[in-house]
Amino acid sequence: MTPIPVVLDVDTGIDDACALLLAALHPGLDLRGVTCVGGNAPLADVVRNTLTVLDAAGRAEVPVAAGARRPLLEESVDARHVHGSDGMADLGLAASTRSPQDRPAVELLRELADSGAGSGSPVTLVPLAPMTNIALFARLHPDAFGRLGRVVFMGGGAHVSNATAAAEFNVFHDPEATAIVLDACAEHGVPVTMYGLDVFYDPVVTVADGQALRDLGTPVGTLAGGLIDFACRRFDSDTATIGDAGAVATLLRPDVVRTQRLPVRVELSGTWTRGRTIVDLRDWAGDMAHDPHGLAPGVVDVALEIDGAAIADLWLRTVRGEL
Ligand code: BDR
Ligand code: CA
Repeated sequence: MTPIPVVLDVDTGIDDACALLLAALHPGLDLRGVTCVGGNAPLADVVRNTLTVLDAAGRAEVPVAAGARRPLLEESVDARHVHGSDGMADLGLAASTRSPQDRPAVELLRELADSGAGSGSPVTLVPLAPMTNIALFARLHPDAFGRLGRVVFMGGGAHVSNATAAAEFNVFHDPEATAIVLDACAEHGVPVTMYGLDVFYDPVVTVADGQALRDLGTPVGTLAGGLIDFACRRFDSDTATIGDAGAVATLLRPDVVRTQRLPVRVELSGTWTRGRTIVDLRDWAGDMAHDPHGLAPGVVDVALEIDGAAIADLWLRTVRGEL
């Protein structure tokens, strides 16, 4: 099977690290580049963590570029209460000797979108963070954006939220960016999948899985096991979600996720609902035709159900080096 060309946009982040490991190590994926954005932690921490993960995976050749420090309109609100003070589980790992590219994330995105399309294998862009970089890319380089093969993003939810009672963290962090990206996908005909909170928490691994990984004594085992151990302790639980890694895993196992093509809008105002993804689950044409708002132009494949065990197993086998 020809590996799927992928580019990840991350705010590493414990679960972004899990996603990077999968994308870097699975032979079914061709990781072409990684762009970083402020989110779970400030941008400098995100870049450092991302380089650390790629070094551990033996993928120091993967280009990394730094992007936006802050959302388009909102102030930054990090999630270090979830991910640790360094943004990636405070494992005390040595910092990489590498540096990110000396060009901004949008330029790396442009080059990778163009080169993928030019070689006949358009890249799949996987945003796993607030979509600030991707919105800037869509605005600055619309032609290149239109050459993407597909966008699969972690964000939002049809029924579930976390950052507020209404909104998921990545969309809450930069609602305008998400709205711009959904509009751009509609405008350019780029298929888009939303891997949101309805499925995000289902693929889980256990404390014992984490210990077994650490016992391997390899750089990947030490990192992956340390991430699991931290997440379990932080939430006082025997299990931890692999989070963003699930979105990457669905590229390899589309057969274990149920999606439905639905109109989606992002709430940009609202006293209590800013950043909510409004997923239109109505099925009666009568109501829809009479809706004064009209239907959302952004039609998205929304992930609604997943076989979490199959996804977690794929991740575990990959980081154990069993593939
Ligand atoms: C998302 O928010 C971040 O904390 C995670 O990395 C994930 O991308 C979940 O809401
Ligand atoms: Ca993330």
